[in-house]
Parts: sequence; structure tokens; C-alpha cells
Amino acid sequence: PLRGVIFDLDGVLTDTSEYHYLAWKQLADEIGIAFDRQANEQMRGLSRRDSLLHMLGDCAVSEAELQEMMVRKNSYYEQLIQNLTPADLLPGALALLDELQAADIKVAIGSSSKNARLVCQRLGIAERLNAIADGYSVEHHKPAPDVFLYAAGQLGLQPHECLVVEDAGSGVAAGLSAGMWVLGLGPVERIGNAHIVHDNLAGLEWQQLLIELEQSQM
Ligand code: BG6
Ligand code: MG
Repeated sequence: PLRGVIFDLDGVLTDTSEYHYLAWKQLADEIGIAFDRQANEQMRGLSRRDSLLHMLGDCAVSEAELQEMMVRKNSYYEQLIQNLTPADLLPGALALLDELQAADIKVAIGSSSKNARLVCQRLGIAERLNAIADGYSVEHHKPAPDVFLYAAGQLGLQPHECLVVEDAGSGVAAGLSAGMWVLGLGPVERIGNAHIVHDNLAGLEWQQLLIELEQSQM
């Protein structure tokens, strides 16, 4: 039986993916490389470093330059998330968190972001979480399973007792390779490998999700 839910943060509980995009876009404009929302889609869920390497493509830069660019992007991102409030939780997020709490289901964050703790605090959900696994928790980032396995360990649960909620292809792959159940949010082209798929969290109910997961096995 399912005993825990591990939520990805950016793009699942809140729309910080847009802020990640704007921060990368500013950096890209400054260093003179082409970058748009479509290119950004490929970077969903990737760590800061992997995102930058993806954005740079064939463009050769030194390690020192990489470091400087990551710091610069993060400073733009930090400015953008300064005004995050509980109102920035996406529709359905709070209702599902309430429902999980009432059903005695443990809840963790499994995010690639080093800003995850800060974002959870700003969103006002930090006290509701039983664990936060973030960009500092593990060495290997999504699509590696490590961050979700770490979160499950913090919850004291086995992988098969956990449901991962993800908006990124790399995150769905990470959840599956961790041996967990996966709910994908977004277009099937992006998260279609998940056990079950929805557009977003709006209107999702825990009991209904359990039924859908069971049916996904038939
Ligand atoms: C993920 C986002 O959650 O975190 C990515 O989907 C982001 O877009 C990654 O690059 C790393 O975030 P940060 O805050 O450590 O730069
Ligand atoms: Mg995400």
C-alpha cells in the first residue's frame, strides 16, 4: 500500500519553472546565445549545472566561467522568487496536501533545486512536510533515482510505498528507476511514461488517484 507521496517542487506545487526560464533567458541574452521557451522545456527538472551545459550546447567555456554563470543565473532566480507567497501554490496543491495529512500519508519534496527549502518556506508549506530532499541531498541528479530514494529513506519508507508527482520527463524517469509509483503532470509527450497522467493537481483526490493507480496495473 502507498504510505508516502514525494512531490517534485518546481512546476508541480508552484510555477517557479517560469522563473527558472526567465533567469536563464537573462543570462543567455547577456552571453549572446539563442534561448527560448521551447529550448527551456528540454531543461525541465535538470540540475543547475546540467541545465547550463544543455543551454550552452557546443559553446566551449572554462570551469571558472561555468561557475560564474551558475552564480549569475541563481542571483536572477533569487530575485524572482523573493516575492513568492502562499498564493503562488498551484491550484489543487493545498487541498491535496490537506487530504494526505488527513489520510496519514507522509509527504516529502524531491527536488533538484538548491533553492527548494527557501521556496517551501515562502510558499508556507515547510511545516507540512515530513522531509525535504533537494539539490544538496545527493550527488547524482534526475534522471538518476537518488533524490527520490533519499526522500523515501527520510520518510522511513520503501520505494514501492511511495508515489512520485512530477512534471518533467527526467523526473518521471527518476521515479520509475527508483521503483516508485509515478503521477505525471503535463502533456503526454513530456511525462507519458508515468503510471498515471493528469494536466495538473487541480481537482485531484487521493482516493481517486489510488483507484487510477490500481487500474494502471490491469
Ligand atoms: C529543478 C528545476 O527543480 O531545479 C530546474 O525544474 C532547475 O529548472 C533545478 O534547474 C535546479 O534548481 P536550482 O535552484 O538549484 O538552480
Ligand atoms: Mg519540476
